[in-house]
Amino acid sequence: MKIFLDTANLEEIKKGVEWGIVDGVTTNPTLISKEGAEFKQRVKEICDLVKGPVSAEVVSLDYKGMVKEARELAQLSEYVVIKIPMTPDGIRAVKTLSAEGIKTNVTLVFSPAQAILAAKAGATYVSPFIGRMDDLSNDGMRMLAEIVEIYDNYGFETEIIAASIRHPMHVVEAALMGVDIVTMPFAVLEKLFKHPMTDLGIERFMNDWKKYLENLKK
Ligand code: E4P
Repeated sequence: MKIFLDTANLEEIKKGVEWGIVDGVTTNPTLISKEGAEFKQRVKEICDLVKGPVSAEVVSLDYKGMVKEARELAQLSEYVVIKIPMTPDGIRAVKTLSAEGIKTNVTLVFSPAQAILAAKAGATYVSPFIGRMDDLSNDGMRMLAEIVEIYDNYGFETEIIAASIRHPMHVVEAALMGVDIVTMPFAVLEKLFKHPMTDLGIERFMNDWKKYLENLKK
């Protein structure tokens, strides 16, 4: 399973990359606007840091505008993946861009039906939004499981990115399903490390080591 960070914050990305467990990054207009950085410059900086797939989202909603933006963004780095919203114009743009060898990530996916269209258009990635489904009292994980099953049935090559991840159990459940990628906020990545028994274990080992050193001196 690959881990992507869902952030446009360079410090967070640097830390994740230093740990050696981050394979890519996803951004969206909200995450970019939080940082207040110049969009293209920030995308380039992220690509240079992560040296893996970096999703940058188009903001046009019409086919021509999306394709134009996508071609410009794709020039920024070999690592850029164009994030395109799940609409008829978006799917048409994905088909065009896939034929040109430009990588795409179909975003704002909330149903297996939408995921089928993304795969049919030849998207490189599809991003079902788990947390936002849960927020509406729908079962985000069930949607994800159905997409995994459908993609397996047909051998679709589009990789599934479990997105809108809110907590570690989302990550674990997605991994149990064999999802290709989970993209998560930095705060969730940090939580994956945590277990009180690990902290307690370290504390005990350190105390016992101290006692051992003291005994040696006697
Ligand atoms: C995915 O690529 C999106 O950027 C992201 O996962 C959205 O998550 P949110 O629902 O926490 O905004």
